[in-house]
Amino acid sequence: MWSPPPASQQVSVTTPVPAQSFRFATPVLPTPAALIAARWLFRLLTLVVKLPFRFPLACASLTASVLVWHVFGWVALAVVWSLVDVGLLVWWRRRPSTFRRWVGLRVLATWRWWWVYARQWQPVLVVAGLAETYAERHYLPRIRKVTCSEWADRVRVRLVAGTAPVDFENRVTELAHGFGAASCRVTVLGPRDVVLEFPRHDTLAEPIAALDVPAVPDLGALPVGLQEDGTPWRLRLHGTHVLVVGVTGAGKGSVIWSAIRAMLPAMQAGTAQVRAIDPKRMELSYGRRLFASYADDGESAVALLEQAVADMRGRAERYAGRQRAHVPTVDDPFVVVVLDEVAFLTAYHPDRDVRRRAENAIATLTSQGRSVGFCVLAALQDPRKEVMNLRNLFPDKIALRLDEASQVDMVLGEGARERGANAHLIDPDLPGVAFVRVEGSPIPVRVRAAYVCDDDIDAMAAGDSSTVKASVMEGAA
Ligand SMILES: Nc1ncnc2c1ncn2[C@@H]1O[C@H](COP(=O)(O)OP(=O)(O)OP(=O)(O)O)[C@@H](O)[C@H]1O
Ligand SMILES: [Mg+2]
Repeated sequence: MWSPPPASQQVSVTTPVPAQSFRFATPVLPTPAALIAARWLFRLLTLVVKLPFRFPLACASLTASVLVWHVFGWVALAVVWSLVDVGLLVWWRRRPSTFRRWVGLRVLATWRWWWVYARQWQPVLVVAGLAETYAERHYLPRIRKVTCSEWADRVRVRLVAGTAPVDFENRVTELAHGFGAASCRVTVLGPRDVVLEFPRHDTLAEPIAALDVPAVPDLGALPVGLQEDGTPWRLRLHGTHVLVVGVTGAGKGSVIWSAIRAMLPAMQAGTAQVRAIDPKRMELSYGRRLFASYADDGESAVALLEQAVADMRGRAERYAGRQRAHVPTVDDPFVVVVLDEVAFLTAYHPDRDVRRRAENAIATLTSQGRSVGFCVLAALQDPRKEVMNLRNLFPDKIALRLDEASQVDMVLGEGARERGANAHLIDPDLPGVAFVRVEGSPIPVRVRAAYVCDDDIDAMAAGDSSTVKASVMEGAA
């Protein structure tokens, strides 16, 4: 008769406390060894069945190798593998990009899956507080797949039932440090299905030269730089207002100039115009020939803003009852009011009347201008309410390097820092790097604005056709 091993037997209480003559204890029922063996066997079988689906290429090559070796012997196997190696070598030399996509990145993903993520998964998640415990058992989110792109690893994870993606979003710093990455971003694909993105290197480390001017600018998606994944960062101006926030030297000028540059053909055609205010006289004054109007002191800036409000009201009156959306034309151009260092007008100007009038005009433009083709593109160093209490009237905001962690949520909205928008940690040696929220996603994206240098501005102001030529060709392609 089978009896449980001594270690698993219940030890009876030998000295009961007087007041406790009866003691109830959960009986320990040892699991029969046969059941444990059957469970392991079942797990092994599941693994064998699943393996070809998970690693089809590796399994197919292994099976083919075994077959060749079995039928033709090891010499034939060596010949086949030599031919395959030569084929791979030729492929790598002839078409490095497709080789990298189909072979290099897949091999890298397998390596990183096992060596980086599977190996360190349990300790990192337990220490980060992402392992769940129920009835004294630990439950870990499971890695479903690891894929590699040119710049990042994407780890697809199945969450433990009853947990939420926000647990991961709140632990992005711990995860990034745990797996040796500079940052971590969480994307939710569906129920219990999230992707963790770990960059392997900084794709935005090198400055980006001024981009080609689009032949036909799309005012709703102007190319102003690059996103971390290498795709263009497109900025919407038509139908919104944009606030660019960053400490001094963060690169606000490059965002403004890149946007102006991308609009250049529309400005030349007369369907878009820029009205510029530059209190510091260091940023926009350089290209003032490009602007429909320009102001650099308090009085003239307020006059410019009030003129824009009057024009906006005139247009709204003409549209009333007849037209609900603005289409840029030469008669009714899209007007962008560019305000560098907006706090000069709203907080720092010594004349109280100028501050009040400027604030009123900016508030009117940002609250009513959107649908009649008026946009405010403003730059600001300090996003606190005392300095700029109009920031919530700007639907789109860009967070360049900021002073304090608390300012991230002020600019990008609540929860942005927890989701990985560490704008306060941006390297001062990387001006132009920013975090933005792109349309349709709550996840902040890291971007870098292209740098428009003085020569580029000169060429733009001179209407140099060579600046446009490259992208006419690009547009044609
Ligand atoms: N996108 C960029 N790429 C590379 N370098 C940049 C970029 N933007 C700015 N720089 C560099 O950083 C310097 C400061 O940039 P910029 O004048 O745009 O900062 P800012 O945020 O406008 O500062 P301030 O508030 O003092 O005007 C520039 O002179 C340039 O050398
Ligand atoms: Mg500036």
